Amino acid sequence: MSERVYTSDILPEDIENHSLRPKYLTEYIGQTEVKEMMDIFIRAAKNRNEALDHVLLYGPPGLGKTTLANIIANEVGVNIKITSGPSIERSGDLAVILTSLEPGDILFIDEIHRLPRVVEEILYPAMEDYVIDIIVGRDSTSKSIRVDLPPFTLVGATTRFGDLSAPLRDRFGVVHKLEYYNEAELKEICQRTANIFETEIHEDATFEIARRSRGTPRIVNRLFRRVRDFADVLNDGIIDMDMCKLALGKLNIDEIGLDGKDYAYLLGIIENFGGGPVGLDSLAASIGEEPTTMEDVYEPYLLQIGFIKRTPRGRVTTEKAFKHFKKSHNMRLF
Ligand code: ADE
Repeated sequence: MSERVYTSDILPEDIENHSLRPKYLTEYIGQTEVKEMMDIFIRAAKNRNEALDHVLLYGPPGLGKTTLANIIANEVGVNIKITSGPSIERSGDLAVILTSLEPGDILFIDEIHRLPRVVEEILYPAMEDYVIDIIVGRDSTSKSIRVDLPPFTLVGATTRFGDLSAPLRDRFGVVHKLEYYNEAELKEICQRTANIFETEIHEDATFEIARRSRGTPRIVNRLFRRVRDFADVLNDGIIDMDMCKLALGKLNIDEIGLDGKDYAYLLGIIENFGGGPVGLDSLAASIGEEPTTMEDVYEPYLLQIGFIKRTPRGRVTTEKAFKHFKKSHNMRLF
């Protein structure tokens, strides 16, 4: 199996989730098209004894971008180095990482849209020709030295495809969007997690967790853990429907998986702005949340289930959202 090297910005949650992460494509549930394509590209590169072309994975958080990067490394049989855009501050930081790669290795850069521009520019020749230009010395005595790199594969991940510069985007040979998972896939992931933790779970309980997980495996696993806590203390460790309802109710997760933040967001638009339209910044200020967090974490799912729309004049809640809160459109001020 491949060796993993982490830089310092890996979240404890990532380490904790490590045991749950599928290691090979055959264990990975969902994203069927992406899996099929990656399987072909990986096999072709292996047959030709070449490094896999650079891969860009984008989509909302929690859908398995990091997991896929690790799977790619395992399938190719190479090492993976894991880092993220904001943690690479200077071009020298990236040069150190790039020059430490072995032939065929995977470099995974999470949140690649947050790479500083000067660092990004080092990546262009690295991706295209496997070389970097390092400046040595200062001012009049400085000169540029070209350093050869081994052939490697950059796997970039981003929640914000639109924030990537065109030159960077264009240098990825393989680009995949990860989609939200359907309930059948989420159920299967929940059952798989229960098997790994050797926990007995009723089938209707796997469905209940799936239904409240907003199309997102990371949320399946998070809810599973919380329900398991209740089941361990109150029900001999057996997860049934009653345990699900009790735990998820206490966590303020409603029957379609919306939580306190979603409520603050949606009721913020409905109650403070008459259903919208309202600008992202005004809405964020009114509920005390960062605009980027709202855009990256909360809005994608609310857009997906048709509870909100983005219009040129701002965000609006839809009839569906009003119905969910049993509010009428008569509340609208506009
Ligand atoms: N755990 C988290 N995401 C998963 C996936 N897509 N397939 C299987 N297990 C997972």
